[in-house]
Order: sequence, then C-alpha cells, then structure tokens
Amino acid sequence: MKSIFTLIALTFFFYSCDTNPNTEENIEPTTNYQEIGDSISTISQQTLLMNVGREIKSGGPVQAIDFCNLNASVLMDSLSKAHNVKISRVTSKPRNSSNTATNFELELLKSLESSDLMDTVVTHDKQVTYYKTIRLGMPTCLKCHGIPGTDISEETLDVVQLRYPKDNATGYHLGDFRGAWKIQFED
Ligand code: HEC
Repeated sequence: MKSIFTLIALTFFFYSCDTNPNTEENIEPTTNYQEIGDSISTISQQTLLMNVGREIKSGGPVQAIDFCNLNASVLMDSLSKAHNVKISRVTSKPRNSSNTATNFELELLKSLESSDLMDTVVTHDKQVTYYKTIRLGMPTCLKCHGIPGTDISEETLDVVQLRYPKDNATGYHLGDFRGAWKIQFED
C-alpha cells in the first residue's frame, strides 16, 4: 500500500518536473519596460549632469547654458538612437518649449508629484511610455532654476533670457518637483 503511494507521489513529481519547462517555454517573454526605462533615464541624467558639470567648471553657468541650448537635444537624440527609444523631458514650467507637457501629461505629473511613486509606465494606442520624476536634487540646479537674484546671478539670468525669451523654469527650491523623464518605446 505504502509503495503505491510512493509510486503516485513519484509519478506526480516527475510529471510536474517534466511539464514545468514546457509551460515556461509557452509563456511569451515580457519586456520589463519599467526596468529598461529606469536605466535609460538614469544614463541620460548622468550624461547631462556630466556635461553640464564640465561646462560649469570650465566657464561657469553662462557657458553651461549655451552648451545646453546647443547640445541638450542632440545628446538626447544620440542616446535615443543608441537605445532604440525616444528620450525627452516634460514639465509644466518649461525653459525649452519643446519640453512642454501635454494635457494628459500634466495630470500624470500632478499624480507623480503628489505620490511617493517615482516612476510609471503608460500604454496608450499600443505606445508604451515610461515616466520618471525629476526633482531639483542638487544645489547646482538652483544656479539656473532657483530664485533670480538670489540663486541665479544677473549674468546667468541675462543669458537664460537671451536664449529662452519665454523661460518659465525659475523660482524653484532645492528638492522641488521639476518634471519627468519620458522614454517612449518603439512598438
Ligand atoms: C547651467 C545651467 C543649468 C543647470 C545647472 C541646470 N539646468 Fe536644467 N536646464 C537648463 C537649460 C538651459 C535648459 C533647457 C535645455 C534645452 O534647451 O533643451 C534646462 C532644462 C531642464 C529641464 C527640461 C525641461 C525644461 O524646462 O525645458 C529639466 C527637467 C531640468 N532642466 C532640470 C534640471 C535639474 C534637475 C538640474 C540639476 C541637477 C538642472 N536642470 C541644472 C539649464 C540648467
């Protein structure tokens, strides 16, 4: 009697071992958009920070603004090509108007700002897009996005206004919510 139970148990054991790999093979591999979006946005942020830091060191914020004005989107385009995605940043208070959030994104930014959530993946019409919160996490950010006259020098402000006459991106404090990275995946 005991051996029959053992046999049943063993059969069941081998049966399950045998079917498991097949079941796994049948599952479609799913892309982890959150993980990929997180690492692409981290790389993009590091690339921008590295370049801005180098320019500030060699010629102060004024030189760094000229650099961003000419190269921020070029850098994002080449990173986008390398990763087969479209990388950008969106905000409700843009410096560069091409970073203006859509109405849908404005709502999304509000919920990112008011929640503890750092990032989210949105699927719309088969288009998958990853968003990650950007905060003014370093005192350096204030040199160009802080309070004019206090954090931002007159000289820097002049160049900002020359390059971006419709600038909306000042008056921030350290730690403030600034917008989000946006990573659009190819379908
Ligand atoms: C040297 C000045 C400078 C510093 C320092 C700086 N920024 Fe900016 N920032 C700019 C300029 C110039 C642009 C517009 C770039 C463009 O034309 O695409 C910009 C654009 C942005 C944008 C895109 C949205 C928009 O308004 O166009 C975000 C988000 C942003 N900055 C966040 C930050 C954060 C966070 C820091 C600190 C880690 C920071 N910036 C530091 C000058 C600066």
